[in-house]
Amino acid sequence: MLLYDNPTWYKDAVFYELYVRAFRDGNGDGHGDFKGLLAELDYLQELGVDCVWLLPIFPSPLVDDGYDVADYYGIHEDYGTLDDFKAVVDGLHARGMYIIVDIVVNHTSDQHPWFIESRSSKESPKRSWYVWSETDQKYRHARIIFIDTETSNWTYDETTAEYYWHRFYSQQPDLNYDNPDVQQEMLDIITYWLDLGIDGFRVDAAPYLIEREGTNCENLPETHDYIKRMRAHVDNRWPGRILLAEANQWPEDVRPYFGDNDEFNMAFHFPLMPRLYMALKQRSRKCIVDILQRTPEIPALAQWCIFLRNHDELTLEMVTEEERQFMWEQYAPEPRMRQNLGIRRRLASLLDNDRRQIELLNALLFSLPGAPIIYYGDEIGMGDDVWRHDRNGLRTPMQWKNTKHGGFSDADTLYEAVLDDDVFGYQHLNVQQQKVDPDSLWNTLRHMLRVRKRFCAFGRGTFAFALPENEAVLAYWRQMDGSQDDYAPSGEGECMLVLANLTGENQQTMLDLTAYMGKTPRDVLKNEVWPPVQDGQYPVNLAPYAFHWLQF
Ligand code: NOJ
Repeated sequence: MLLYDNPTWYKDAVFYELYVRAFRDGNGDGHGDFKGLLAELDYLQELGVDCVWLLPIFPSPLVDDGYDVADYYGIHEDYGTLDDFKAVVDGLHARGMYIIVDIVVNHTSDQHPWFIESRSSKESPKRSWYVWSETDQKYRHARIIFIDTETSNWTYDETTAEYYWHRFYSQQPDLNYDNPDVQQEMLDIITYWLDLGIDGFRVDAAPYLIEREGTNCENLPETHDYIKRMRAHVDNRWPGRILLAEANQWPEDVRPYFGDNDEFNMAFHFPLMPRLYMALKQRSRKCIVDILQRTPEIPALAQWCIFLRNHDELTLEMVTEEERQFMWEQYAPEPRMRQNLGIRRRLASLLDNDRRQIELLNALLFSLPGAPIIYYGDEIGMGDDVWRHDRNGLRTPMQWKNTKHGGFSDADTLYEAVLDDDVFGYQHLNVQQQKVDPDSLWNTLRHMLRVRKRFCAFGRGTFAFALPENEAVLAYWRQMDGSQDDYAPSGEGECMLVLANLTGENQQTMLDLTAYMGKTPRDVLKNEVWPPVQDGQYPVNLAPYAFHWLQF
């Protein structure tokens, strides 16, 4: 039980999101699988990962890369067997690492036997497992999410001449959470996977479980009630396991998903993410300050999950219309780069492959409040291909070596071709080459993660902005001041100041360090001592895109 000795382990954890199909092919069929992943667990440990999050692993027709589940009690045949999966779980645990899997609660595939049964007749015992209607005029206040593809949240089904409800692709009918059997079934599924030994779930599309006329069908009280049930179910039998919410909402609407330590343990901070990019182009910290000042306090046992990129388009749902246009102009000048309300590009390509900016955003990711998530491949600066279908261009095979298919697979054909362009191709961008180069992005990020782990303040500390006059400088304090939860493993009295220059030019500013007179700050990333604080006003001169983690 060593893994759960600290039941709030997730607060300090570094997460790594990976798509099994894209990571490593262990049996030579062109698809990544659990055998391949098992062979790379040491790699993840070496990088400094604490918890792996897997995209859906269940049998699925893959209309939405597994977010269309056809059987919640199995493993997709391309990924191997249940035993292969268990070997990965055991392998991670043996290394002191954790594993959470994506659970798609809101909808299934239209190929799921429940839906096949449900659509077969109005009298079917499974009819009420989904949301059916004689008209497509109900719930008209609910927005359409996949606007590039869907024109309605209703699809007409000829067999019974009724419409079924779906928030995503029409091949993903929504389950009916007003049906107690559906509620119970999902708890049984959770039981099944937790009994297999996993450490929790990333809960997909959490806000949409319940529909009510006259509302936007998001974040409804009944949805929160069910999540409370889920949390109680997990806490009762598997203490230390976590539920992570995918709720792409404004901070004040996400806050209730933590409940009173009785809903989700963690939730993604969606609105922060685009603002990290926006701040660079605006040459100002203002949007970051605004969104974090707008973010409510969360309960003692809760933690944010923060990220720069993930497997989806860089979502621009949580910005204003004007900000969205700005982001599209700046980061998606080609129409093909845009998708739904977002941008289908990876971190490195968004930042023009500029090492300084890539490192800067990672330095913020690893020091802002929340547990950081790295999207597979971003640790080596992998690129994308916007010409591929849907989001496939950012789900390409992991680039391990400069050999055939980037060392991902021996097969002749892959589920998706490895990138081989002049900038991001596997020939010059791969793990093997970066591991031996002490100055590579991989080694730089690994170093940052090691340093992060020495300071509890980054995972658990209080957060406060220092607001020097120059707005191009982002500065904030992370401190262990005794107000932390009882589970903080160490770090008493830690006091860190993070400084970042958001521009490509030198920036000067004065910091008010009256409270730190006589102290000598030390840059813990570079292991350099800074001049002592002699009077209250402390001058700093920051190189282009520079960042510093100063310990006081
Ligand atoms: C959110 C997931 O991140 C995305 O990939 C998926 O398409 C939708 N939910 C629907 O499940």
